Amino acid sequence: MRRTCRTVFNAPGPNLLRCSPVFAAAVAAILSMTANISEVLADDPVEQRVNALLGQMSIEEKIGQMRQANAGYGNPPDYLGDDIRAGRVGAILNLVDVDVVNELQRIAVEESRLGIPLLVGRDVIHGFKTILPIPLGQAATWNPELVEKGARVAASEAASHGVNWTFAPMVDVTRDPRWGRIAESPGEDPFLTSAMAVAMIRGFQGDDLAAADTIAACAKHFAGYGAAESGRDYATTNIPENELRNVYLKPFKASVDAGVATFMASFSDLNGVPATGNRFLMRQILRDEWGFDGFVVSDWDSVHQLSVHGLTEGDRESAYEASTAGVDMEMAGKAYEHLHDLVADGSISTDVIDAAARNILRIKFLLGLFDDPYVDPDELPPIGSEHALQVAKQTALESIVLLRNEIGVLPLQKGKVKSIAVIGPLAEAPYEQLGTWIFDGDVSLSVTGLDGIQNLAGKDTKIRYVRAMPTSRSRADVQFEEALEAAQQSDVVVLFLGEESILSGEAHSRADINLPGAQAELVREVRKAGKPVVAVILAGRPLTLTNIVDDVDAILFAWHPGTMGGAAIAEVLFGVESPSGKLPVTFPRMVGQIPIYFAQKNTGKPPSPETTVHIDDIDPFAPQTSFGMTAFHLDAGYRPLWEFGFGLSYTSFEYRDIATSVAEIRAGETITISAELKNTGGVPASETVQLYVRDLVGNVTRPVRELKGFRKVRLDPGEATRVEFQLHTDDLAFFGRDNTLIVEPGEFHAWIGGSSDAELRVSFRVLE
Ligand code: BGC
Repeated sequence: MRRTCRTVFNAPGPNLLRCSPVFAAAVAAILSMTANISEVLADDPVEQRVNALLGQMSIEEKIGQMRQANAGYGNPPDYLGDDIRAGRVGAILNLVDVDVVNELQRIAVEESRLGIPLLVGRDVIHGFKTILPIPLGQAATWNPELVEKGARVAASEAASHGVNWTFAPMVDVTRDPRWGRIAESPGEDPFLTSAMAVAMIRGFQGDDLAAADTIAACAKHFAGYGAAESGRDYATTNIPENELRNVYLKPFKASVDAGVATFMASFSDLNGVPATGNRFLMRQILRDEWGFDGFVVSDWDSVHQLSVHGLTEGDRESAYEASTAGVDMEMAGKAYEHLHDLVADGSISTDVIDAAARNILRIKFLLGLFDDPYVDPDELPPIGSEHALQVAKQTALESIVLLRNEIGVLPLQKGKVKSIAVIGPLAEAPYEQLGTWIFDGDVSLSVTGLDGIQNLAGKDTKIRYVRAMPTSRSRADVQFEEALEAAQQSDVVVLFLGEESILSGEAHSRADINLPGAQAELVREVRKAGKPVVAVILAGRPLTLTNIVDDVDAILFAWHPGTMGGAAIAEVLFGVESPSGKLPVTFPRMVGQIPIYFAQKNTGKPPSPETTVHIDDIDPFAPQTSFGMTAFHLDAGYRPLWEFGFGLSYTSFEYRDIATSVAEIRAGETITISAELKNTGGVPASETVQLYVRDLVGNVTRPVRELKGFRKVRLDPGEATRVEFQLHTDDLAFFGRDNTLIVEPGEFHAWIGGSSDAELRVSFRVLE
């Protein structure tokens, strides 16, 4: 490919036809296809306005629309005004001063030749000033309605600062907790990730992109970024097309269906062609198969990076590859300056430029920017409004996962518990609890764990706070004695452990995902007091907690819970609300098990308790085949520490009587699968009921279980309800051996329960 196109660059005259005929035909087909999208939209008033404007634009102005300039983090550089005036900028990013944004819009609208307003982008990933839990925590709520509300709060606060486009949601499926960006993702499963993606898009964009409190969303990073080798950020991904379609692309397709305005191309190399130059992804799949009519932005300088990857020889060739592949706008780079030459010498058709400019302008019209580009913050609710804080607290509350509760130590009984030792580096860490990607987060709004406990415990309860470690990474044990004393003098110990926000996020991957620093030692030290110990873990990823799990009586996994995290944690600790979070990602026992996820394939030698053994239990001189020969690790078995979908409650739930409406269905029909759920414990609580399905035989092997539905249900003690899921045969479709979508006849198993280990099972058949 590279050699073919280098020939093109050197050749005068019409560009693509000088590439190999097969390639030229493919590109011609693609371009005509792109034209078809606009033909389809031709009667649309927005499309008519786009076309009318495009007709007046010079090629320079069109290329100008394809540039997103970094406006810096403070005042934008002086040249930016000139570039905007000259029509050389279509979008900016990282400017959140509404007065400066309004001034730049004024220059764009009043002083540029055609008065085209600017897109103003920002990473509004999980809140703006009011910070919600990290997206992985939001996924743990399994509550899309709540997540949608949170995204609207974020959109509204960001809009009041002049932002009209967020680089969210991140919809990368990932099965690797070493990857720092797992914090930004909704986890390991395509179905749950899709549900969260749709919720966030609805929240950001609403029904009307032009409304004051909505902003354009961006599904990123297209595609495969979450499969980075060994979880090292930016590392290569190798994903067979079948796996790509059946797993990684699903949330992106759901995003298109939900009307997402923009896509961002990933930094990563996908099967040898970095995503930013990947025609298969952006032309064939995104435009041709899915009919996406928004625009695609590169990631930060990722067009230039095509040459660093070794796909191209320099920025000129990179600009060629990215623009013809379908990257409409370049973020924060300079490679697209070469587009002028590439068009001038015929290497790139003006159709490529027209298509890109058209896609970008379409979104600007939809955002209402041509009608009113200015922002009046007074039209929007104030920052940190009561509603914003309430949504942030509720989301944090529902995101907290109770992983362990031995001896019923939780909830803490108000009145009975007279003294609490609050210990650990993350109990009073207002910044750290916000998590990664919170450029605009207002730390002064944070309610910490210590605050939350103090506020709820009541004045008769003595709180002894010992930080014990300056950071989670610290190895010093100087304050351990003080921590032990506090534990000895108190009725119960609440340990706030985990990792600071700097340990997750972009370019912050870890090879060891144990609690960092001397935290495990701190746990053991405090344990010596013989008091009940509750660990509250704040982290941007699953951690391997195998080495502390038996030294604590309860574990609440709170992720990085955001502004209201401490208030939510305290409400769970004291049982104001029963925990209802469920894991959106598998928690491994050991890092060496990664990738470990519930929707794995069966293999030809599936493990079982009978066929596995622990390394410590192997008989001396045991023969090679003495135990099983199945797919497991001698030192970790085959089970995770906690499975996907898992999460305890202060009550108990009983599942019974699973049933299907019919025993067999034909293509195009729907089956109802239901089970009864009863709250058999003593407190009202919410439970996320999950539906899993297995297609027993497929023309490509199918996962042992796939999530196909979930519903969060609230029940009072003793109350029961029948939870129903409708499954259409389309829901059972998968990409087969030739990568087309098929539903195959045959037997299916379905489970309903409270985690991916659900045991209640029923079968049904799909008929020819
Ligand atoms: C990240 C994107 C982000 C962009 C703009 C990049 O480094 O990969 O996710 O939206 O920066 O800040």
